[in-house]
Amino acid sequence: MSNISNLQILSDIPKLGSGIGFRGPWFYPLTSGEGRKIDFLEITADHFMDAPNWKIDQLKKLNESFTLIPHALDLSIGSSEGIDEVYLEKLAEVVDLTCPPYWSEHLAFTKAAGLELGHLAPLPFTNEAVDVVSSNIEKISSVIGKPLILENITYGIAMPGHEMSEAEFIAKVLSSSSCGWLLDVTNLYINSVNHSFDPILFLQQAPTERVVQLHYVGFTKNTKGYLIDDHGSAVNEEIWALMDEVINQCRGVKGTILERDSKLPSFNEIIEETDRARNLGRKHKRWD
Ligand SMILES: [Fe+2]
Repeated sequence: MSNISNLQILSDIPKLGSGIGFRGPWFYPLTSGEGRKIDFLEITADHFMDAPNWKIDQLKKLNESFTLIPHALDLSIGSSEGIDEVYLEKLAEVVDLTCPPYWSEHLAFTKAAGLELGHLAPLPFTNEAVDVVSSNIEKISSVIGKPLILENITYGIAMPGHEMSEAEFIAKVLSSSSCGWLLDVTNLYINSVNHSFDPILFLQQAPTERVVQLHYVGFTKNTKGYLIDDHGSAVNEEIWALMDEVINQCRGVKGTILERDSKLPSFNEIIEETDRARNLGRKHKRWD
């Protein structure tokens, strides 16, 4: 498929607005009147694989009121040994159940030499890694037909042997695999501080035309001054400033997801943050 036609597929994705990552304690407010203030939901696909009936019923109930975007954690798209077919089949079932306009995974690996790493590990920015990811995505696309968008992750140490910058690597992977970009604004900001680069310059070199959706959440700082993506804080002003710039530059962005995982605040605080993200999208005319 040509680059132009797969860009067209991404641009045909409907506008979604301002959403949140679904977490269990928010099931009740989401399915009562408060839920009307949230535009769409991301669900962690892994939480609904081999799930008991009550969880599948919960998913169906959410899907009555919201567009649901499955977000997978453990497909290990960068593994040179290929894709785990059992996991892929389970993921395909969740995608089928939710019928989303697209789904997402991380540009990373979680399995190596038959071992589960238990976390998202960064790939070396090499042509070989681009080829591995493209070949894995070819296999994935033969099972899951919906468009896939890939997320940039944080990395503690830069992998050795890079042949290109992270921005070039993301551009090559997305164009060779016909994927969109889930731009995690907080991950970009954290990497820019921890590895001393300018996030605005990064955006100038990155394939912003492929951005479909954003992630954002607050960060914390450790005693050595390193930023940590613990998904447990209110959105910092530095992140709001970068969100503004990213939404301005990414003309095709369809939606934003607040990705709070720990120290869950009241649902009112979540609504305030999603309102602010929605208003940024309106300011730049990305949605109504
Ligand atoms: Fe994220």
